[in-house]
Amino acid sequence: MDLKQMVGEKAAEFVKDGMVVGLGTGSTAYYMVEAIGKRVKEGLNIIGVTTSNRTQEQAEALGIPLKSVDEIDRIDITIDGADEISQAYQGIKGGGAAHLFEKIVADNSDKVIWIVDDSKMVEELGAFPLPVEVIPYGSQQLYRLFEDKGYKPTFRQDTNEELLMTDAGHYIIDLHMERIERPHELAEWLDGLTGVVEHGLFLDRVNTIIVGSESGVEIIEAR
Ligand code: A5P
Repeated sequence: MDLKQMVGEKAAEFVKDGMVVGLGTGSTAYYMVEAIGKRVKEGLNIIGVTTSNRTQEQAEALGIPLKSVDEIDRIDITIDGADEISQAYQGIKGGGAAHLFEKIVADNSDKVIWIVDDSKMVEELGAFPLPVEVIPYGSQQLYRLFEDKGYKPTFRQDTNEELLMTDAGHYIIDLHMERIERPHELAEWLDGLTGVVEHGLFLDRVNTIIVGSESGVEIIEAR
């Protein structure tokens, strides 16, 4: 079985009757949403909170009852993919351009589970380009700032080679840093930049990581 499917289906087992469930985005989260949809058809009673238009369309098609993040008090559990997870269990997300909504949903969740195949487990972050979501106005100035810092920025493009527009109407600048030695310092700096809406550093945020490899599924309790 595909490793992404394996961890997606495993994560769906963490969902219990009556829960409010954050539904992540990406090719791994896709399988988790499919598995939850199957359980809903069999009688599982949950409310889903989606993290992108893509996941919303998938969940609606599966008949999963949905509410927006603003309509619920608290999310019991959020299950999402990740692009890189370091040995300290810090993460980069946003390869699918959904990290703004994903972070909002995660921050309103009692428990966060990441589902990945073992290729995502790294020593330290940075080989995967770090996504920074920015408002279009002034984005060239931010691009220049990142260039001056030596962060090798690129504007994310869509399949038509136009500037990619996120679900919230922003651009994404990817930083090709190769190594992020001090992720907390970088996150704090990015948080302080005017025009940056959100970056893909997810620090001290994950509780449980489900890793799939050829030898099976490993469940790591991170915090
Ligand atoms: C979406 O923006 C991302 O944060 C995804 O969760 C992440 O990119 C993992 O995606 P895959 O499961 O497709 O690798």
